[in-house]
Amino acid sequence: MSLKNVSKSFGALKVTDDVSFELASGEALGIIGPNGAGKSTLFNLIAGNLRPNEGSVLLDGRDVTHESTMQRCASGIGRSFQIPQPFGNLSVYENLLVAARFGGDVSGQDAPAL
Ligand SMILES: Nc1ncnc2c1ncn2[C@@H]1O[C@H](COP(=O)(O)OP(=O)(O)OP(=O)(O)O)[C@@H](O)[C@H]1O
Ligand SMILES: [Mg+2]
Repeated sequence: MSLKNVSKSFGALKVTDDVSFELASGEALGIIGPNGAGKSTLFNLIAGNLRPNEGSVLLDGRDVTHESTMQRCASGIGRSFQIPQPFGNLSVYENLLVAARFGGDVSGQDAPAL
């Protein structure tokens, strides 16, 4: 996936300023910075919880900037949150099954075998 010239402001506060990077399949990239540096904002922009004021988010070369979180998840963009919110009425296994089926490219037939 890649970000191209992504900027995000909250009022007068420019939190994300012209950020671009490319991430190959299987590659791991760490984002570090002090409190308030804009790490969560960046993840929100990638996952679709926030929309950039400028720039694009691309997945496999496809522009997903205007897609919803649900559409991006189904395309394979997964994320975790600082405060986990699992389905309380499901087991850990069932929670993982939901993620595997919805965003993990696992078909209904394959899922029970996991
Ligand atoms: N929805 C919002 N509205 C207004 N300001 C926001 C919003 N979200 C984040 N900010 C501000 O943007 C800046 C970056 O916040 P962000 O949460 O991205 O930082 P962070 O690097 O994740 O910090 P932390 O390490 O505390 O999690 C902070 O100044 C924050 O107050
Ligand atoms: Mg954060």
